[in-house]
Amino acid sequence: MSERTCLTIVLAAGEGTRMRATRPKVLHHIAYRPLVWHVLDAAAPLLGRCAVVIGPGSDQVAASVRTHTPNAEIFVQTERRGTAHAVLAAREAIARGADDIVVVFGDTPLIASDTLKRLRGALEDGAAVATLGFHAADPTGYGRLIVTGNELVAIREEKDASPEERAVSFCNGGVMALAGGTALAILDAIDDNNAKKEFYLTDAVAVARAKGLKTVALETTEDDVRGVNTQTQLAQAEAILQDRLRNAAMEVGVNMIAPQTVHLAADTKFGRDVVIEPYVVFGPGVTVDDGALIRSFSHLEKAHVGRGATVGPFARLRPGAKLGEKVRVGNFVEVKESTIGDRTAVNHLTYIGDSTVGQGANIGAGTITCNYDGTHKHRTEIGDGAFIGSNSALVAPVKVGVHAYVGSGSVITNDVPDDALAVGRARQTVKEGWASRLREMKGAGKTDKA
Ligand code: UD1
Ligand code: CA
Repeated sequence: MSERTCLTIVLAAGEGTRMRATRPKVLHHIAYRPLVWHVLDAAAPLLGRCAVVIGPGSDQVAASVRTHTPNAEIFVQTERRGTAHAVLAAREAIARGADDIVVVFGDTPLIASDTLKRLRGALEDGAAVATLGFHAADPTGYGRLIVTGNELVAIREEKDASPEERAVSFCNGGVMALAGGTALAILDAIDDNNAKKEFYLTDAVAVARAKGLKTVALETTEDDVRGVNTQTQLAQAEAILQDRLRNAAMEVGVNMIAPQTVHLAADTKFGRDVVIEPYVVFGPGVTVDDGALIRSFSHLEKAHVGRGATVGPFARLRPGAKLGEKVRVGNFVEVKESTIGDRTAVNHLTYIGDSTVGQGANIGAGTITCNYDGTHKHRTEIGDGAFIGSNSALVAPVKVGVHAYVGSGSVITNDVPDDALAVGRARQTVKEGWASRLREMKGAGKTDKA
């Protein structure tokens, strides 16, 4: 297989209309990644060229594809005239020649690389057209694979199928591989003589057979080729992918107490001996090192959790939060764009934003880094071993030195030197006997309502 060249064509000219969304269909996310990225991920190990067919004016789709696969060739299908017509929008790429051509739909995000490799294997074994079939629980809407004996004779779209053909539950998964040498001749021979007046890619099977070429159907699971046409199907695909991601995490040793309640991103990375309590959401770009504990109701995104650290319950790590080893971030604490040094504790009700916090520091309950002046963001630096008393406001830009103390309730607007104590609050005054005098005054003026 390795010397054979490959061209993957991703059809992504679908709009979001059936999803009742303004966003193009293939840009909807599962596990925090666009549908089309999942397909591009699956195609990447084929190590060939990649062409993506988009609809007119789909600049967003083009931009998203380029972010994922910068060297993908993008073709525009100017009119939506069927799946074969869409493939031919990439004619130029096909004409340049490849041994194997693999066509995948941008709306089947769960497709596995191994399945695509199996299809290529069928081409290597001499097939001109190889398709993927699956046994559908409910075949409604899918094309049916018409098989006699071991041979795939045709694919019939539901709208064109006879009642007997509709009774077939072996369905077309949509993915197709075509031998490069005969692909264009087959695609050019497809007509639009059918119920939808479209050029169906599925007709490649009948055309190839009429030319005396070999066609095969390989079987796969329904989940592998599950298409997303509606919001409900999007949620179903998400659920399947979440199951896969959780299982993969547990296989590398993550301990999930209630896996069904943990939501992962496709790129979440875990070390060993990580424990995740129920109800935790991992947005994109999170890495969790060995032995960390993520407690219930925490939300993490583009963040790093160091070895042996504890996060939550009810913690929020926003983009750029980097926690060192054995850091403790407790309940109702938000950390954004900040590095927190080893063994530092930020246990309660705190906001740390745009900050660098040293090692072994203690950030008291209710500490707020005031990082925003309404126009600009400013940084706060807190040195190793510093102690920030509860309910302090650190008005950035500001530095608190190594081993320095900040008295509770302070508003710190000037730098605090190493080893110093800073107190920035109104001095307490005590008025002896004041309360009893108040009571007497009230008693004197009291009107009896009884
Ligand atoms: C298609 C198959 C059907 C199969 C099903 C599997 C055809 C004719 N039918 O039906 O046999 O069972 O997928 O999910 O191939 N697209 C374009 N341009 C077009 C038409 C479609 O780019 O002119 C793209 C869509 O964006 C989508 C994919 O091709 O990604 C499939 O099109 P869709 O309309 O969803 O086909 P189905 O009716 O689902
Ligand atoms: Ca579809």
